[in-house]
Formats: sequence, C-alpha cells, structure tokens
Amino acid sequence: MTDRLVIFDTTLRDGEQSPGASMTREEKVRIARQLEKMRVDVIEAGFAAASNGDFEAVRAVAEAVRESTVCSLARANENDIRRAGEAIRPAVSGRIHTFIATSPIHMEKKLRMTSDQVVEQAVKAIGWAREYTDNVEFSAEDAGRSELDFLCRIFEQVIKAGAKTINVPDTVGYNLPEQFAGLVRSLIERVPNSDQVVWSVHCHNDLGLAVANSLAAVAAGARQVECTINGLGERAGNASMEEVVMAVRTRADLLPVYTQIETTQIVPASKLVSQITGYPVQPNKAIVGANAFAHESGIHQDGVLKHRETYEIMRAEDVGWTTNRLTLGKLSGRNAFRARLQELGIVVTSEEQLNAAFARFKALADKKQEIFDEDLQALMSDGSAPLEQEHYKLVALRVCSETGEIPCAVVTLAAAGDELKAESSGSGPVDAVFKALEKIAVSEAKLLLYSVNAITGGTDAQGEVTVRLSKGERVVNGQGADTDIITASAKAYINALNRLRSGAPRLDPQGGAV
Ligand code: KIV
Ligand code: ZN
Repeated sequence: MTDRLVIFDTTLRDGEQSPGASMTREEKVRIARQLEKMRVDVIEAGFAAASNGDFEAVRAVAEAVRESTVCSLARANENDIRRAGEAIRPAVSGRIHTFIATSPIHMEKKLRMTSDQVVEQAVKAIGWAREYTDNVEFSAEDAGRSELDFLCRIFEQVIKAGAKTINVPDTVGYNLPEQFAGLVRSLIERVPNSDQVVWSVHCHNDLGLAVANSLAAVAAGARQVECTINGLGERAGNASMEEVVMAVRTRADLLPVYTQIETTQIVPASKLVSQITGYPVQPNKAIVGANAFAHESGIHQDGVLKHRETYEIMRAEDVGWTTNRLTLGKLSGRNAFRARLQELGIVVTSEEQLNAAFARFKALADKKQEIFDEDLQALMSDGSAPLEQEHYKLVALRVCSETGEIPCAVVTLAAAGDELKAESSGSGPVDAVFKALEKIAVSEAKLLLYSVNAITGGTDAQGEVTVRLSKGERVVNGQGADTDIITASAKAYINALNRLRSGAPRLDPQGGAV
C-alpha cells in the first residue's frame, strides 16, 4: 500500500534562518510561486511575529499562493499565534505551526519551565491557533533529545486539543537513522489516537544525516517531511527537498510512499533559491549540483553512451536540467520579455519596474548573444533590481589591472541625489573596488564571504557574485550579476550595503523564551 507523503517546504522560514539568507517580501513571493508550481503541499512562509516585515511577507505569500497550504510558524504564546493567524488569513488553505521545546536541556536552561508548564502552554497554544484554523501543527522542539515518555504525554494532550499534524524535529541533528526511526515508530505505537494525525519529521543536517533520518522516519510511519530547497537552513541546514523527493521516487521499491512534486521544477527552484539567497550550490551536490549528472571518466562515459542506466539512476531531464532552455535574444521585444518573466513566476509590479528590467535585459543582450532563464532570474535578483529601499546605486566603475602594477579602482555611486566618487588601490581589482566602496559608505562591515559562480556555460556567461557582510548582530548577503565579474562584484557589495541599511532587526523564533 502506498501513502501520499506530504512535502512541507520551510525554505522561507528555516531556510531563511541561515546567516544572511533573509529575504524580502517580493523574493519570498517569487520563491513561493515556484514552490506552488512544483506542487509542494505546504509552504512555511515565515515567522509572522518576528517583525512587521515578516508578517507582511507571510501575508503576501498567503495572498499569492492558491494551490499549496500556506503556513506560519509561531512560538506557543498568544501573541505569536495571533500574528500567525492574521498573516495566513488570506490563504485559500492556511496552517499555524506552533512549537515549544521538550528536551530537558531546553526546558530547564532555555525556557526555564517545568515539564507540566510546557504541556499546559502547548495545549493553550493549540486552543489559540484553532480560533483561526483547524489546520494546526504542533512541534516538540529538540524532540530528538527529549524523553520518550514525556513526548508521548505532550503529544497525547495536543492531539486531544486538536492538533492535526505532529512534528518530531531533530533540531540539533544529533540522531542516527535507526535511532530516529525507532523514536518515530514508538511514538506512533504509543500515543493514543496517533492514527488521527499526520506524523511529521524535521531533521537538521549537523552530522550530514538529515535526509537519511527523514527517510528512515518515513519507513517507520512518518507521512510528512519538512525540508528545504538545496538543504538551506539553520547551521548545517535541513533535509534537502530534492534529495528526499528523488529518493522516494527512485526507491519506490523500498519506501511505501509517493509525493505529488513536479520534479522537473526542481532545478529551476534550486537556481532561484540560490540566486535569491546568495547561497551557491556545491557542484557535487546530489540532484541539483552542476556535476550531479556529469560523467567525467572515460569508462563511465562509455557505459552511459551504451546504456544510460549503467551509471545513472535518475534522468537529468526528470529533475529539470533541460528546462534551462534558450529564452530570449537581442531582438526579443518587451512583450516577449514580460511573458517569459511571467512564465518564470517573476511578478513585475509596475510598468516602471518592467521598463527598468527591460533596459537591463537589453544591455545584457548587447554583451551576450544567448539569454537563458538563469540569466533572467539573475537579472531580476541581482543588486541592480530595485530593493525596497535602495540607497546606493552604481553609476560608474573603472578598474586598472596590469601585470606588475598595483590594481586600482575608481567608483562613482548615486546616493540620495548626490554623486559620490572614491578611488583606491588593492591587492587585486576586486579588493580595490571594495575598498573604494568602503571609502564612500564607511559601513565598517566585516566581509564574511565573497564567491563567484558562472551562471551558464561559455566565456560570455554572466558571473554571479555573492558578498556576505556582517555588522553587529546583522548578517546580510548581497548579489550581483554581470558579464564582467568586477562589475558583478561591485554590484554585489552595493547590494549588501543597501541591505545592511534597509533591514529591520527580527526576532529569532528559536532564540529564547516561549
Ligand atoms: O529545528 C526545529 O526544531 C525547528 C522547529 C521550529 C520546528 O525549526
Ligand atoms: Zn529547524
């Protein structure tokens, strides 16, 4: 007998808890539309109580998405739950996901609550949530290090209070597959009315076991997996959705479940999330890495040419590798451009925004003959796409770099109606550009990461640059794309500076009190 496995995507919530991966409302809506296109069952759009911006983002996703259930996370307190309830109100199908920690260490050291108080709070939380929806999920944070008897007790009570999905998170990625499967199996066996709810798992990847633990739990009876695109998430991340979905599909002989995911949308989703968050995908990453279907050794190539299945267990086209088709060219008009953006799920909110994007497209088409979907995605996500509050804009950039000479850069930025110019030397042209930008911005931010990736193949490919800056408590990622990687680097740095200036501080859902 095969059951449907519910795919609960938390890229927009747990994924967003990765350093610097916080997304704007528009970016969340773009990713949510892609998740909907993939036929994800539940989209966790954020933590509505974190800030007004997060509330608005969850609400915007609830308004935009029609096919998937839209969910907000909420700690088990009345304020969080009411914020979540209000944020998901416009959804066709909405869910509130409330949680409280259940492990001895979290209850004693973080919550400073007794186990009785935790049960009482959890039951109250379900009651508040049910004022908004019957679709309520309860998570026992750090279940992987909680006592089985206590988990049975709290789950029994929240099911009685009306929770419909019971989630068992391995919050710190501590469990091994057999052990975690044993936990899920015991819970399903022992908790009264366990057949009235969907059992879910949420595994972190600290030991590289998130997908293995999730699949072991599915074999033990879990029927919802919480996961993220590219395995993004807190610390080492969450179970990667593409790996879970393709494992279930490829090993249907061993796993008694199926998903409704449109797998050809996996690679486009991966690229979109990578471009928006600035988290590159490692080339050897399963399913979505650039080398996932590349055969380098002669013996393998020979085998695949003779019979594909000698070395391939999945088809590249089934996960969307061929969907990166040639899209537009120099002669494409505004309507074709607009239509392709729509097909890619990119919403352009005004004619002004469309005109600006079209101008960037034309400038790119002058430099690069063939424009692919990835180029368009980058065009709409890089530092030159309007941020809600864009303070600095790149006006001009000149770099000199010659063998034996000290590299130098001159940058001109527009900021609040003024033109600001600075020059600097550096150990390389990128270093010189960043130093010149710092002379203007005086952000005193620390550079945590600088990475460059080619978006498509060929030497005329756009380089996509990610810059991660930290200042005080805040960490932001900036992106820039251009056929000239020095310009892409400048755009990325400016984008990060703008994000540092515009973002408001947010509450961390798993940080402290209930
Ligand atoms: O890792 C975790 O425990 C979580 C919960 C909030 C579900 O993200
Ligand atoms: Zn988590």
